[in-house]
Amino acid sequence: MLIDAPSPLLDSGDVRDLFVRALAAARDWHAGCPVQREFAPWPEDLTYIPRESAQVPGLAHLVNDPGAASDRSRALKDAILAIAPFAEWRLTYTEDEVGADFLQRFGWFELAGPEGHFLTTQARITVGFWGANLYYPRHQHEPEELYTVVSGTGLFHADGAPDRLLGPGETRLHVANQPHAMTTTDTPILTLVYWRGAGLADPPRMTAA
Ligand SMILES: [Fe+2]
Repeated sequence: MLIDAPSPLLDSGDVRDLFVRALAAARDWHAGCPVQREFAPWPEDLTYIPRESAQVPGLAHLVNDPGAASDRSRALKDAILAIAPFAEWRLTYTEDEVGADFLQRFGWFELAGPEGHFLTTQARITVGFWGANLYYPRHQHEPEELYTVVSGTGLFHADGAPDRLLGPGETRLHVANQPHAMTTTDTPILTLVYWRGAGLADPPRMTAA
């Protein structure tokens, strides 16, 4: 039985405060991880933009079970859960590409970026969630990407690299147009993902077989 996501009854100032707190938690997460700092500096041009929330079926799964956090990732996990009911969630992929079950238990939103809750031209920082026992098929994109695991675990696949099972605090780098995929096992996974380079506003595309 899933717990319903909290209904968005807060006023806009309260919602803004939640997003500002989540951004601060993400900044602390970035500051505390040399791999993240080396990937890209924290954006300096962040501006909060009020956006309509958009909910997806996966939100209820996230609220019910975001996966286990570590002592260091708990603050960010909690801050993401606090904004989750108010975020502009997206699915992007089609049922043909990923399957119906995937679309029921997946979602992402742009915390900061060209279309984010915080506008910046310097980076794209997204939150992604996948339920347990899902396969995220091979895809690619021009921007380089650094995955950071906030809670739960996932088995990361990428062309030219060994598979790695990653948990809270661990990271995975994908270079430009490197095909990659992910499998969740018996736990969901919550991630904070950075993009850098050209094409920040472009969607990933499925890799041809
Ligand atoms: Fe990616």
